[in-house]
Amino acid sequence: MQLIGHYRNAGYEATADAVMDFFERRQDLQRPGVAFGSCGNNAEPAKISTDISLVALSRSDPESFAIADLIMRGVSAGLGQYLKDRPLFREVCPDQELFVMPLFNLQYYAPGEGFRQWHCDWTIGDDATEPVHRVLAWILYCDSVDEAGTEFHWQQHHEEAERGKLVIFPASPTHIHRGRVNSKLSKTIATGWINAGSREDFLKRLARS
Ligand SMILES: [Fe+2]
Repeated sequence: MQLIGHYRNAGYEATADAVMDFFERRQDLQRPGVAFGSCGNNAEPAKISTDISLVALSRSDPESFAIADLIMRGVSAGLGQYLKDRPLFREVCPDQELFVMPLFNLQYYAPGEGFRQWHCDWTIGDDATEPVHRVLAWILYCDSVDEAGTEFHWQQHHEEAERGKLVIFPASPTHIHRGRVNSKLSKTIATGWINAGSREDFLKRLARS
């Protein structure tokens, strides 16, 4: 469990509440969730959810920007603590730099829905979020739901879904995980990634693409 970091404070709780409000209000931004990098011949889809994609760069929709920026600040603070507690982790990363990817998702899982397939967040797909550079993943649980958190395979660990809890963990196959599906209750999370390298360099590449 050494590499699963947990962060809680009143700020994360307020952020979680703001996400719940925003998600409900902005139905215009909701779309069916996409399972990235999923494969296999399962009859069931890897992931069923309703998502809102956020970009903490664009101010074209002020309300979206405000919530995206709030989340980014919270996750960046969590990342700072994660690395402070694990100095070696930063040392081994290229240029000793990591940043929170400013493109991420809010996800609503209705009762019976979930990301039920075992997966890890690192992939080699060609995507604006540069998945090859992914080092860590994060989840901010926005409501408290029994039996609806995240199961970690190798660690034999269930992370409870608790309002205002931020969890940061490696994106690699060392931390294969899946959502625990609750057939009666819904769950809302914000989730995204932390990449190796400098945010400035990433933004330059993004602007060119
Ligand atoms: Fe995941």
